[in-house]
Amino acid sequence: EKGGYEHFMLKEIMEQPGAVKATIAPRIKEGRVVFEELGLTASEIGEIRKIIITACGSAYYAGCAGKYAIEKLCRIPVEVVLASELRYSDPLIDKQTLVIVISQSGETADTIAALKECKAKGARTLAVVNVVGSTVAKLADYTVYTWAGPEIAVATTKGYTTQVTVLYLLAVYFAGQLGRMEGEERKLLIALQALPRQIQQAFDLNSSIPVLAKKYHASKSLFFIGRNTDYAIALEGALKMKEISYLHAEAYAAGELKHGTIALIEEHQPVIALCGNPAIMEKTLSNIVEVKSRGAEVLALTFRNNQKIVSVADDLLFIPKIDALFSAVVEIVPLQLLAYYVAKENGCDIDKPKNLAKSVTVE
Ligand code: M6R
Repeated sequence: EKGGYEHFMLKEIMEQPGAVKATIAPRIKEGRVVFEELGLTASEIGEIRKIIITACGSAYYAGCAGKYAIEKLCRIPVEVVLASELRYSDPLIDKQTLVIVISQSGETADTIAALKECKAKGARTLAVVNVVGSTVAKLADYTVYTWAGPEIAVATTKGYTTQVTVLYLLAVYFAGQLGRMEGEERKLLIALQALPRQIQQAFDLNSSIPVLAKKYHASKSLFFIGRNTDYAIALEGALKMKEISYLHAEAYAAGELKHGTIALIEEHQPVIALCGNPAIMEKTLSNIVEVKSRGAEVLALTFRNNQKIVSVADDLLFIPKIDALFSAVVEIVPLQLLAYYVAKENGCDIDKPKNLAKSVTVE
């Protein structure tokens, strides 16, 4: 049932090109994004003044990554709120708020409670869910399924990438309905349809990860840094590392380092620097130089021909050239593999990490 793989997690990582393709395919017809399952009319979409995305864990980080694409293409403000916080925060929600609830299992207690709270306050609710017929899917006004197929490993991989894919598709769809596309849709659709192939390329480019894992597995802690979309991806990369390898890992917005965290950098501290967003890369490069000058060991994630980054880093993870707007789906892949091989090196129970459950059905 593991299809020849040693763990479900690795099988599910490898299934991502197919899962992302299955999520995209039914939503693109005749050169346009369609969401037949959404009963929202163009004028109802036009009434949305604010979007709140709420979820837990990796689903929350999927929201953090999707926010950039929605805001950029739709110019609607997006707030990403942890479900466990939203439910107790008396959120500012009304009929003009669209609440997007994300959950792989559709059974996460805090997410269900946040959804109920938002419905009670009059918001329209849209669920992005993997498990068909789950509680979240049933409760929301609209449900959009991620067609990832069953996910068995506790650490989500294809669940996360298909969630982000749906948010990208929704961003393009809403922007089209709002009349904000100005002939751009074709270009964006080509970029979306390239994602499954680019995930495959990310596998092919990173055959050295098991070797890197041997170097980094005994680290006391790992810092993940990045800016903008790279930061959102760093958050998920650090969570993957923590939950399956039990190493302390923390993600920081690279620009924040100087405001305190840099005090923790000492000789040989590993820093994983995400440089997948050309618009902001120069700034991250200067943070790399800062941490290196304090003795950090830098593992940079970037494009192969990105000489500036390649020449300063100690080690490298590669991604193919991608559209930064849609980068999370591809850029997370080397970090999933790194977490997997570090955990393997440390002899951890990868599919069933200690203290964790696949679906957190209690508060
Ligand atoms: O089923 P859900 O998407 O609602 O689960 C949310 C989180 O519990 C989940 O993403 C968790 O953080 C994973 N273990 C991450 O790999």
